[in-house]
Amino acid sequence: MALKGIAVLVTGATGGIGQALVRELVSQGAQVLAVGRRGEALHALASGLGERGRQVQPVQADVATESGVASIVTACRQSVAPVRVVIHAAAIGGFGGFESTQPAHIAASLQTDLLAPLLLTQALLPLLKAQPNAQVVAVGSALGHIGYPGQVSYCAAKFGLRGAFEALAREYADSTVQFQWLSPRATRTAFNSAAVDELNARLKTAVDAPEAVAAQLMGAIRNRRARLQIGWPEKLFVRLNGAFPALVDRALRGDLAVIRSFFNRTATPSLLAASNTQER
Ligand SMILES: NC(=O)c1ccc[n+]([C@@H]2O[C@H](COP(=O)([O-])OP(=O)(O)OC[C@H]3O[C@@H](n4cnc5c(N)ncnc54)[C@H](OP(=O)(O)O)[C@@H]3O)[C@@H](O)[C@H]2O)c1
Repeated sequence: MALKGIAVLVTGATGGIGQALVRELVSQGAQVLAVGRRGEALHALASGLGERGRQVQPVQADVATESGVASIVTACRQSVAPVRVVIHAAAIGGFGGFESTQPAHIAASLQTDLLAPLLLTQALLPLLKAQPNAQVVAVGSALGHIGYPGQVSYCAAKFGLRGAFEALAREYADSTVQFQWLSPRATRTAFNSAAVDELNARLKTAVDAPEAVAAQLMGAIRNRRARLQIGWPEKLFVRLNGAFPALVDRALRGDLAVIRSFFNRTATPSLLAASNTQER
């Protein structure tokens, strides 16, 4: 889809991948409705783009609330350029042992990472169906395919979102709205705590720059790819986990002691902080 002159809604626009996506989008001529809870960060993003910052409309909203979804829908209705692409990139992470994860964090994770994109998509579908063609993109994760120790609620949310997007793609296959599931692997952003960064280094897990991830996501959006998993060996692991999960069970069993040794480095309060505060 040519992006010049159309509007793209990006949630998680203040995040590492979101900001890189916004920069790519404005450089290709799109108008961007940039959503985040932190108004200052949204304005800083727009002003950092100079002249092109005019293409960015900050929409300060919490996607996990009914009022937040309502104000995003209003901003889309009022957009001068028609919104034809919706990119769901907002999410909260959290790494740690399941038993010590706060119930409030589990709930917030499912609310933000799974329910919010579904409810926002549902609310925006009337607008999207009125366009000659439209795309709804879930920024997924390799952990939406591979259950990983220490990431129980995040995996639950991303697996759920992947199922929902697969079902939506099939339910709307004869329509003008396309649903895409595009999955980064580990990416260098504030999403990951220092402990997770250290664990990735210890396990020699490749970590991508957010700009590289945004460039791949944009390519998949332009080419209307239904699915994308970024990176080797993640592409292979995702397939292996689907076809021969016992092999991945064994590989992760081998890493379990190392992974578990990092659980306590993410204190439980920071899991709550990640979901409940607007500061980082
Ligand atoms: N980083 C990775 O390793 C990695 C790997 C695979 C997939 N992903 C996926 O990539 C996407 C972007 O991640 P990232 O690395 O860019 O994360 P990030 O830097 O932590 O950014 C997260 C974004 O989500 C927004 N957000 C969180 N809760 C929100 C809420 N309730 N309402 C509105 N906005 C909310 C944050 O905005 P405010 O704080 O301003 O609200 C921020 O813009 C996520 O879907 C993530 O699951 C990331």
